[in-house]
Amino acid sequence: MNLDDKQKEIGKLNFLTVLGSLETDFLREALTAPATGPFLFGYGPVEKPIKAGIVGTGNEGCQAMIEQSPPGAIDYIGYHDIRPTQIARGKRTFQKIYGEEKGSKVKFHETWEAMLADTEIEAIIIATPLWTHKRFAVEAMRAGKHVLCEKLMAHSVAECKEMVRVSEETGKILSIGHQRHYSPLYHLTLKLVESGVLGDIRHVRALWHRNNTWTLSNPHRPDTPSTADPDWGVSGDSWCPAIPLEDKDVPAGSFGYKNIDELVRWRLYDRTGGGLMAELGSHQLDACSLFLGKVHPEKLLATGGKYFFQDGRECEDHVYCMYQMPGGVTLSYSTINSNAQEGYGEIVMGTHGTLCVMNERDVMLFKEREPGDTMPAEEMYLTCSRDPQTKKPAMKWTPSTAVSREAGMAKAAYEKLVYFTPPGTTEATVNRGYFTELEAFAFAIRNPDYKVRCSGRVALADAVMALSANVSMRSKQAILFKDEWYDPASPEAPESATSAVAKNA
Ligand SMILES: NC(=O)c1ccc[n+]([C@@H]2O[C@H](COP(=O)([O-])OP(=O)(O)OC[C@H]3O[C@@H](n4cnc5c(N)ncnc54)[C@H](O)[C@@H]3O)[C@@H](O)[C@H]2O)c1
Repeated sequence: MNLDDKQKEIGKLNFLTVLGSLETDFLREALTAPATGPFLFGYGPVEKPIKAGIVGTGNEGCQAMIEQSPPGAIDYIGYHDIRPTQIARGKRTFQKIYGEEKGSKVKFHETWEAMLADTEIEAIIIATPLWTHKRFAVEAMRAGKHVLCEKLMAHSVAECKEMVRVSEETGKILSIGHQRHYSPLYHLTLKLVESGVLGDIRHVRALWHRNNTWTLSNPHRPDTPSTADPDWGVSGDSWCPAIPLEDKDVPAGSFGYKNIDELVRWRLYDRTGGGLMAELGSHQLDACSLFLGKVHPEKLLATGGKYFFQDGRECEDHVYCMYQMPGGVTLSYSTINSNAQEGYGEIVMGTHGTLCVMNERDVMLFKEREPGDTMPAEEMYLTCSRDPQTKKPAMKWTPSTAVSREAGMAKAAYEKLVYFTPPGTTEATVNRGYFTELEAFAFAIRNPDYKVRCSGRVALADAVMALSANVSMRSKQAILFKDEWYDPASPEAPESATSAVAKNA
C-alpha cells in the first residue's frame, strides 16, 4: 500500500489501540514477563547451552545465525566453510560476539566430515546454498546431531521429505529457519488476525519488490574484488556479488560446483538455487499461511520469467502467483527485481479492516469505511470494543487523536517484546525471530517435550507452496495441490506431478 507518513502513523497507532483493547491482559502480563521468547513461544530457560557447529559463514550464517544467537542457549564451538573470505568472516564474527579470546577458540574445521566427527558438537546450523541443505541435514542427523537448517528447506519437495523422514527415524530435531514463526511482531499481528476484528478475510496480497537493476552499470561488475566492504562486495545486486580475488582459487569443482561463479552466485542458477520463490516468496507464503491458519492451498497459477536480466543467469526476475486457498480465500503474490515500490510484506484484507505488515517491522491497521464514515479509510483514528453479547470485536472511527490508555500500554509491551539488543552490541533492534528461533531450538534439544514451531513437516508445506509456483510458471499451467505432497512417506511431489497440472483450471 502506498501510504504517506501521516497515514502510516495512523495505521501504526490503530494497530496498538486495537491490540491494546482486545489483548489487555496478555499485554499487561507481557510487561512484567522476565523474558520475551519464553513468554511468547512457551519455552523456558536453557539449562546448559548447546554446543553447536555451523556450516556456511556467509551473509546469513554470520549476520543472523551467529550475530543474533542467544549467548546462554547456543555456544558455537566449531565452523566450516570453503571460501577463504567467508572463513575469515566467520572468525571475525565469532570474535565480535564472544570477544577476541573466546572467539578465536571457535574451531575452524577444514572439512565438513571433520566437523561432523567432533563428538562434542550437539547441533549443526546449516546456512549454505539451497542445493546443499538436504545433504548436510541428512548427514548431520545420521551423525547424531540436531539440525537447524536455513530456509528454503531444500531444493525439491522430494528432498524435504527425505529430511523429515531422517529426522523422524533418528529422533533428531529438525528445525527450519522460517524465522517469522519466532518473530514477536508476527506473533502480535497473528493475535489481532485471530481476534476476528478484520471480519471475513477473503484476500491476502503479499509481495517482495526490489530494484537490482542499477548494478548493470556498475563499473566493478562482474569480477572486481571489493575494497569497499569485505563482507558484501561492491555490487548492489546481492544475488550477483563480486567474486573476491581471495576466493578465486577455491577448488569449486571438488565441492560440486561448476566453477567459482556458481559457488558465489548460487542464487542465479537452477541447479544450486530455487529462484525468487525459494529465496523471497517462501517467506511471504509462510507468513500468509500463518495468517490463514496453516491451511494448504487448493489451486495455483503462476507466471513470470527472466524478463530483465540477460547476463547468463537462469533464475526468473519477475514472478506473479495466484493461490486459491480453502474456503474461498485468494492469495496473490508478486516478487519482482526491477522496481522497489512497496518493499515487502503482507496485506490481509477482511470485510471490516485491512492489516499490513511491512518490511518485518511496521504493522498498520485500517478500518473499512462504513455508511456514516466521512474520512478516508487511511485517515481514520480508531477505537475498538467487544459486543457485550456476542463478544465480537468491532472498530469505530473516533475524532480523537489522543493516544488511548490501551494504546499506551500496547506500545510499551510492543517495544519490550519486539525489540532486543543483539549480543556484542548496545543498540536495540527489531528481533526478526532469529534469536528466539535459536533459543527455542536449544530449549527443544534439552526438553524433548517442547516442539519447535517450524519443524520439518511445517516447512515441507511451505516448500510445497513455494516450489509449486516454479512448476506452474515453468510449465505455464495451473496446479492442483495433492494431499500426498505433504506426506513424507509418499513419493508424490509437485516437481514430478504432471498429473496434478490442471488443464482447465
Ligand atoms: N531466513 C532468512 O531470512 C534468510 C535470509 C538470507 C538467506 N537465507 C538462507 O541462508 C542460506 C545461505 O544464504 P546466504 O545469503 O548466507 O548465502 P552466502 O552465499 O552469503 O553464504 C553461503 C555460504 O556457504 C558456503 N558454502 C557453499 N557451499 C559450501 C559447501 N559445500 N561447504 C561449506 N560451505 C559452503 C559459502 O562459501 C558461503 O560462505 C540460504 O539457504 C538462504 O536461503 C535465509
